[in-house]
Amino acid sequence: MKIYRKTRDVSAFVKSVKAKGKRIGFIPTMGYLHEGHLSLMRRARQETDVVVISIFVNPKQFGPKEDYRRYPRNIKKDERLARLSGVDLIFYPSVSQVYPKGYLTHIDVEGVTEGLCGVFRPGHFRGVATVCCKLFNIVRPEIAYFGWKDAQQAIMIKRMVKDLNMDLAIKALPIVREADGLAMSSRNKRLSSRQRKDAAVLYKALSIARRLIREGQKSPVAITSKMGRMIKAKKGTRIDYISIVDEGLAGVKRVKKGNMIALAVWFGKTRLIDNVIV
Ligand code: PAF
Repeated sequence: MKIYRKTRDVSAFVKSVKAKGKRIGFIPTMGYLHEGHLSLMRRARQETDVVVISIFVNPKQFGPKEDYRRYPRNIKKDERLARLSGVDLIFYPSVSQVYPKGYLTHIDVEGVTEGLCGVFRPGHFRGVATVCCKLFNIVRPEIAYFGWKDAQQAIMIKRMVKDLNMDLAIKALPIVREADGLAMSSRNKRLSSRQRKDAAVLYKALSIARRLIREGQKSPVAITSKMGRMIKAKKGTRIDYISIVDEGLAGVKRVKKGNMIALAVWFGKTRLIDNVIV
């Protein structure tokens, strides 16, 4: 497995891979890899010839008061996990490598980025779209893999790829969960043991919502209020949103099959997101 820090080294690698007619599978990450990431790498290993991942904590997708500095990092462990998952190349650039002095260009995907997390994290999706566009141009993958936990991100990236005629496929793979249902996330590591136990309430609330819908409940307000009560019963939680949305991420008046229940909740200083499709 190779580890490159410079864009020019990745470009040379990509060129030689393409010259041999091989297909590249790519997983962009911010590191602190967990089973959710590894499931994407294994899928890329099955479906493509060469697996590339990036590890880059992208400053442009964090607000000034967000956890950029505190975001967990462990490159040695990431290297080991990536190697075990069959990765061929890790692109591990510095901030100045991705955004050299004088950098001015950004990508704004409208509409799908305006609700849900877009309300609470202004500029976040612009940062994600910008870095993904750059990484796609450097790595030139045939397929890029994303986790469905960040459903709004995956939907936005699909939109960007379509709107900008980018020549790659985007695959969003299912959420990987801990035994108690908590969606795997690098940020889980920042929960205290009490918060970690309490955080299981998110999937419990989503599962109860799904059950209510199966039993015939169609009112988003009734469902999200019940979920809100369950979550607020855990000390130190703060809800950014609990929403039921359609495929275009617009709020719905009556719940229908295929809608998504999405939430973002703070446990102390750690913000977690999760969702289920009904
Ligand atoms: O999902 C993430 O880890 C990040 O948003 C991504 C896609 C790697 C872009 O920085």
